[in-house]
Amino acid sequence: MHITVLGADGQLGTDVIDLLSKALPVKALTREDFDATDRDVFGRLRPFLEDTDVVINCVAYTDVDKAEQEKDLAYRLNAEFPEGLAGMLGTSDKILFHISTDYVFSGRLGRPYREDDVPDPINVYGKTKLAGEIAVSRLCPRHFIFRTAGLFGKAGPSGKAGNFIDTIIRLARERSSLRVVDDQVTSPTHTLDVARAIRAFIEGGIGEYGIFNVVSKGYCSWYELADYVLRRLGIEAELVPVSSDEFPRPAARPRFSSLDNSKISKWYNMPRWQDAVDEYLRIKMLLPKGGQ
Ligand SMILES: NC(=O)c1ccc[n+]([C@@H]2O[C@H](COP(=O)([O-])OP(=O)(O)OC[C@H]3O[C@@H](n4cnc5c(N)ncnc54)[C@H](OP(=O)(O)O)[C@@H]3O)[C@@H](O)[C@H]2O)c1
Repeated sequence: MHITVLGADGQLGTDVIDLLSKALPVKALTREDFDATDRDVFGRLRPFLEDTDVVINCVAYTDVDKAEQEKDLAYRLNAEFPEGLAGMLGTSDKILFHISTDYVFSGRLGRPYREDDVPDPINVYGKTKLAGEIAVSRLCPRHFIFRTAGLFGKAGPSGKAGNFIDTIIRLARERSSLRVVDDQVTSPTHTLDVARAIRAFIEGGIGEYGIFNVVSKGYCSWYELADYVLRRLGIEAELVPVSSDEFPRPAARPRFSSLDNSKISKWYNMPRWQDAVDEYLRIKMLLPKGGQ
């Protein structure tokens, strides 16, 4: 079983490579090997993928606010690149893992979204990710679309100053008081857990292709997540809950985009979000190993 990871140095790609390469032959491709916006990107990728059985696509345009301005680039990376990749892999019997997001939903449903709920994105990023999902499911029969949310991982997101947890810790050490939105709810997820789920699917030879929600169990607001992290670390900054209206951003955000992960639990049991955060803090050596 030969595996190739695209976007191997991103937040998720880093953990996927670290985990899978312990047991399986894995090729790690980064922007140095191919630029997903190049006209001839698939000609460039083809030789890398010839002897590959499984492709894991972690390439994406992930800056939700900037996507409102850079629509064409976001569409190229999140929709056209997966479309071309799925078209190329779909003509062989290769398996494609494609990563998507809770932001394909508006957050207006009022309960955690299941895989078969109808997507209705409210920002450019979500629309481009949905277009990528549709293309992958249409063109590559052997596909897994893993929808995840609120990712945090040791590498931090590519091109950003840090993930939400890292940012909250940094700001709480710099300031005595922080304002955090309490009316956007998600399922915070550790990239290592997504990587473990991918490994479980590959090793288990799972053949039930389709969409899976790959998120931690439970959900919380960004305020609750910040509060949990600071309490776990004993950092005493004041946290002030604020509404999204007080924090205007270029892109609209779903208010309740938690994903229901019961479908994947048949093959892989995702942890509670609090346990996922604890493991992350231990990996970052901010909590003692093995401690409670
Ligand atoms: N972050 C979240 O909270 C979140 C939430 C839900 C879903 N997701 C989804 O999860 C997946 C992984 O997210 P992440 O946080 O790991 O993102 P990330 O850290 O931003 O990683 C994106 C990867 O794409 C690569 N890339 C970007 N433009 C490229 C180009 N033109 N050519 C080649 N490679 C390019 C980046 O390479 P460089 O390092 O060279 O830029 C990086 O390796 C994405 O599909 C994202 O939509 C993320």
